[in-house]
Amino acid sequence: MKFIKIVLVILLIALVVIQFIRPDKNVSSYESVTAFETETQPSSEVAGILKQNCYDCHSDHTTYPWYAEIAPVSFWLDEHIEHGKGHFNASAWEEYSVKKKDHKLEELIEMVEEGEMPLDSYTWVHGDLSDAQQKLVVQWATMARLQYKSKLEVSDK
Ligand code: HEC
Repeated sequence: MKFIKIVLVILLIALVVIQFIRPDKNVSSYESVTAFETETQPSSEVAGILKQNCYDCHSDHTTYPWYAEIAPVSFWLDEHIEHGKGHFNASAWEEYSVKKKDHKLEELIEMVEEGEMPLDSYTWVHGDLSDAQQKLVVQWATMARLQYKSKLEVSDK
């Protein structure tokens, strides 16, 4: 029993100590997605869906829940955000080439249609997209791709 007590105390101390290690917060302003939205023209409904369900991991602006303050949850969320942003960051849209923009939207359609995005661990807490919301997002992304596709065709000639 004594051994278990020691282990528990060490764990408790470790838990307290890691609270002092804080990942940098991903909190530049929500305005950082303006260029993305100006170009891809989501309806206000789609913009709302993206804000609610996607930008937490795919922009420079995360709305953190209270438990994001608690390590090791904070590390885990930080990992998702950095990983998600590495793949697709709406706040960095202007830095993407036309080809990359088109490709990201293609991936986006695929991810949403297959129900892979938002991540499962996120939908446990935040809920998933409804079928109607999924459809709206896919329609918007399909429309948005047209402008990039036509630009790509012009540059091919
Ligand atoms: C909890 C964080 C999180 C949320 C919320 C989230 N994603 Fe992701 N997303 C990720 C991660 C992590 C990856 C990398 C996934 C992988 O490799 O499996 C990713 C990958 C992607 C990709 C793939 C990009 C590529 O190049 O392959 C797209 C597109 C995408 N997400 C779109 C969305 C959309 C649209 C939403 C909202 C409907 C959303 N995501 C919500 C974390 C998230």
